[in-house]
Parts: sequence; C-alpha cells; structure tokens
Amino acid sequence: MVETRTTSVDATRALAAAIAELARPGDLLLLVGDLGAGKTAFAQGFGVGLGVDEPITSPTFALVQSYPGRLELHHLDVYRLDHLHEAIDLGLSELLDDESVTLIEWGDTITAALPRDYLEVRVRFADDPEERRIELCPVGPSWQPRQRALGVAVAEWIDDEGAPPC
Ligand SMILES: Nc1ncnc2c1ncn2[C@@H]1O[C@H](COP(=O)(O)OP(=O)(O)OP(=O)(O)O)[C@@H](O)[C@H]1O
Ligand SMILES: [Mg+2]
Repeated sequence: MVETRTTSVDATRALAAAIAELARPGDLLLLVGDLGAGKTAFAQGFGVGLGVDEPITSPTFALVQSYPGRLELHHLDVYRLDHLHEAIDLGLSELLDDESVTLIEWGDTITAALPRDYLEVRVRFADDPEERRIELCPVGPSWQPRQRALGVAVAEWIDDEGAPPC
C-alpha cells in the first residue's frame, strides 16, 4: 500500500492527476471513502491528468458519465444502487472491457460484480478539515506491478514509506 496525505482539495486533484499519468487502457479504479471525503475531487484531478477538457461533475444521478481524453474516462457513482444486479445492468462488463479507464465512486460496495483487478483509492478524513489520508492499494495483475511507479508518481504526498500491505 502507498499511504499519502494531502492538505487541500487542489493537492488531492494534483495527486490524482499524477496517478492518471500511469493509466492504461482498460484500467479500473475504485474510489472509496465517506460522504464528502473527496472521491469526486480525485476524479476531477484524474480527468485533468488524462487530458479530459470538460469539467467532471458528480455522476450521482446519471450513474455513468463518459469523457473523451488521452484515454476515454468512464466515471460512475454507485452510491444509489440498492442491489448488485443494478450494477450489472449498468453494463459494467462492457465498460470494463473496452479501451477506456473506469473510476467508480463507492466501488467497494460492488466488488462482487467487478474483476479483482483494480487500484483501490481510499480517502479518509483527518484531524484538519482540509487534510485527507489517501491510501493507494493495488489489487490484482494490472496495478500490482505498478506499485513502485505509483510510489514515484505520488512521492511528494507520501506519508508513510513503510505502510503495511493492504
Ligand atoms: N484535502 C482534500 N482533498 C479533497 N477534498 C477536500 C480536501 N480538503 C477539503 N476538501 C473538500 O471536501 C469536499 C470533497 O467533496 P467530494 O464531492 O469530492 O467528496 P465525495 O467523496 O465525492 O462525496 P460523495 O460521497 O458525496 O460523492 C470538497 O468540498 C472539497 O473542497
Ligand atoms: Mg462524489
């Protein structure tokens, strides 16, 4: 696990943009954290890093929003899904099969419908209202080999070099 710390929303966006530099076609990222933690802020910065020009907004009502960029970005928020089958009905497998990158807010709630191959981004509140602890946890064959590159990409925000494995 790579454990990082940001002290502003812009820093969270910059960290996400740095991670987007490592993105490859077909990548999946799960954005995990309480209401208002900063999942959408992360998605916005990630979009900037992918060269998305449009502003990224919360997809809570649309469920899926797609944006053209260096790689196409699919942004989902599954907070309002009541049942796993609704996630499947969204056409998740089609989204994940293509050449795009997919970010899913609250993705940890639907892991049963997802391949075990993603970067989990866990955003946690800290003592200061502007501070967040952001844990990066590579799961499966796509992201695990990129753990070292991930550490380099986010070096300026690393909080704990010896963070335990996730
Ligand atoms: N270090 C920080 N990183 C990210 N956001 C921060 C930080 N400090 C303060 N904030 C504020 O926290 C809020 C994060 O909101 P955001 O919509 O990104 O959360 P979210 O996790 O997507 O919430 P939801 O669960 O409702 O989708 C914003 O108002 C942002 O300005
Ligand atoms: Mg959000």
